[in-house]
Formats: sequence, structure tokens, C-alpha cells
Amino acid sequence: MITRIETVAVIGAGYMGGGIAQSLAAAGITVTLADVTAEATSKALERLLREAGEFEAQGLFAPGSAEAIKANLKTADSIEDAVRGVDFIEEAVPEIPSIKHEVLRRICAAARPDAIIGTNTSTLPVKTLAPAVTHPERFLTVHFSNPAPFIPGVELVSGEATDPAIIPVVKAMLRRAKRLSAEVADVPGFVLNRLQYVLLKESNSIVEEGIATVQDVDTIVRSTFGFRLPFFGPFAIADMAGLDVYANCFQTFEDAFGERLATPELLKSLVAEGKFGVKSGAGFNGNFDPEMAAKLVAYRNKAYARMAQLLEELGPSPLEEARSTTSE
Ligand SMILES: NC(=O)c1ccc[n+]([C@@H]2O[C@H](COP(=O)([O-])OP(=O)(O)OC[C@H]3O[C@@H](n4cnc5c(N)ncnc54)[C@H](O)[C@@H]3O)[C@@H](O)[C@H]2O)c1
Repeated sequence: MITRIETVAVIGAGYMGGGIAQSLAAAGITVTLADVTAEATSKALERLLREAGEFEAQGLFAPGSAEAIKANLKTADSIEDAVRGVDFIEEAVPEIPSIKHEVLRRICAAARPDAIIGTNTSTLPVKTLAPAVTHPERFLTVHFSNPAPFIPGVELVSGEATDPAIIPVVKAMLRRAKRLSAEVADVPGFVLNRLQYVLLKESNSIVEEGIATVQDVDTIVRSTFGFRLPFFGPFAIADMAGLDVYANCFQTFEDAFGERLATPELLKSLVAEGKFGVKSGAGFNGNFDPEMAAKLVAYRNKAYARMAQLLEELGPSPLEEARSTTSE
């Protein structure tokens, strides 16, 4: 079994595959790219090397990254040539099951039988793709986010047949590329897109019901609860706000929207046990001793203050700028 990934093939050199290839190559891993034709792959390499130089010049990539990417990123004329002999293969072709099945079959026919195979699918469960994979114990979802060169989080989804022993091997590769990974059960949309699409769906409903405009929804999301999200997830945020407070708020939602927004059972049971989060010493995230609670609040305050400074330094996004010009 592979214990350390040193060589990678990325199949599909588009938006995601290209960014994944850049990220792994910058971390010192040898990456071979393949797209539909040799010509398409060469064009993609040209673009990725040019972008890497620009990103480094703009201070967005660490010094030396462009050179490392140039040294470690190669192309192959076919999927078969790219995957032959490598330790890990990431499939990043379009989200169309028939294309993914065909590509996975070609990968398996040419790769080593023990090569680990990841798919960058956004929503398809492993069980729908695994039938195209021989030795499915080496197959899992390794879901990078867009834009892949800059977003650190990666979802890992194991299928029924996935060997748990490959997970630490994939995690170690991701750590080398400074990525954070989290494991998720094999359900459609995993965690990231389930949450993201619920937010988008609810935002659409708010606009359709005339409660707020598209622009005002975006402003509220990014400047209120979204402002906290680079640092804390919803459970940590609730622990800091107070679970008793959340339970009272849920009552309002339950009264207005019924079962759809009823108080969650997990929250109810914590509140019933007197676990109100940081203020009571226990919550969703287990126990908080007073020293840890004080450190957490200090970190939170610093994080939000620095976030405000960063936004000030960056200035408004082009979208915000255009809005303020048209509304003047
Ligand atoms: N774009 C996003 O925001 C995003 C985010 C996370 C995950 N994903 C997922 O990543 C995967 C790729 O998405 P993308 O946005 O990079 O798409 P894309 O269209 O930019 O890239 C897909 C690439 O696959 C190539 N391709 C198509 N058929 C092929 C074949 N038979 N053999 C080899 N290459 C082939 C295409 O030429 C193209 O370069 C999808 O599963 C998508 O759902 C996308």
C-alpha cells in the first residue's frame, strides 16, 4: 500500500484541475496533467505557468512558488500516459456522471492497482462513481474548493469500499500543500454544498418574498454572520453566543415557519442539561475551562478586528464599488 504520495496525475486541466495541480506542484509534489487532447493540456500548462508567475509577482503565492510549479508540473499526451506509475490520481473532469465513469475506467486500466484515486466531484456520492473503479478500496472523493489555489479546505468522502488506511496518506499530501481536510459521509452534496445551497436557496426565497434585495442580502451576509466564518463554524459561534439564547430564537422561527425551522434536538438536549456554551463551561464543542474560554474570546476579538482592518485595506470589491457609483 502507498504510504506517502510523491507523484500525482490530475485528469481534467480546467478551472479546478489546473488549480489543484498548481497547489500540489508548489508543495514539491510531481504532478502530471492530462486533458482531452495533448494540445488542450499544453495550453492549460501555459496558462497555469503564466498565472503562477503573476500570482507570485502580486504577492499571492509564496516566493519561489512559480519556480517550483515550473519544475514540478508536467503534461502527458493522454490520460493513460499521465496516470501510469503515479501514487495518486485526481479526477477533475465535468460533473457529468457518464464522462466521469468513462474517465475513471480509463484511469483504472492504466494506473497501478494500488494507486489512490480521488474525484473532485462537487455533489455526486462515491457510490455512484465507484462502479467505474477497479479496486474501489483505493477510491474516495477529494473535493477541493474554488478557487483551488487559494481556498484551504478539502472535503474527503469515503465510499462503502474505501480502505480507511488511505485516508491518513491523502491527508498527509494535503497537509504538505497547506490544506485543511475534513471527513464527510457519502451523501449527495456532502457538507460544503449542502450548507452553501441551503443559504443560497433561503436567500432566493427572501428576495422572492420581497423581504430584501439581492444587494442587501449580500451585504447582510458578508458583514454580519459571514464576517465570523473564516474563523469559526456555526457550532463554535453558537457556543460563544449562548445556546440558551439560540434556543429562544429558534422558538420564534418554529412559531413562524413550523417544522422546517424547529429547534434542533441536539441544541434542545444541551440546553436541558444546562450546557449553554462558553458562559456555562460546556456546549456543542465539549467543555470550556475558564482559561480556555478567556483565550477564545480574546482570539475572537482579535480575529474580527483584524478582519475589519483587512477589509479596510482591500477596499470595496468591484461589485460594491459599482453599486455605490450607480446609487450616487
Ligand atoms: N468550478 C467550481 O466551482 C468547482 C468547485 C469544486 C468542485 N468542482 C468540480 O470539479 C470538477 C471539474 O470542474 P471545473 O470547474 O474544473 O470544470 P472545467 O470545465 O473548468 O474543467 C473540466 C476539464 O475537464 C476536461 N475534460 C472533459 N472531458 C474530459 C476527458 N474525457 N478526459 C480528460 N479531460 C476531460 C475539459 O476539457 C476541461 O478542461 C467537476 O466535477 C466540478 O463539479 C467545481
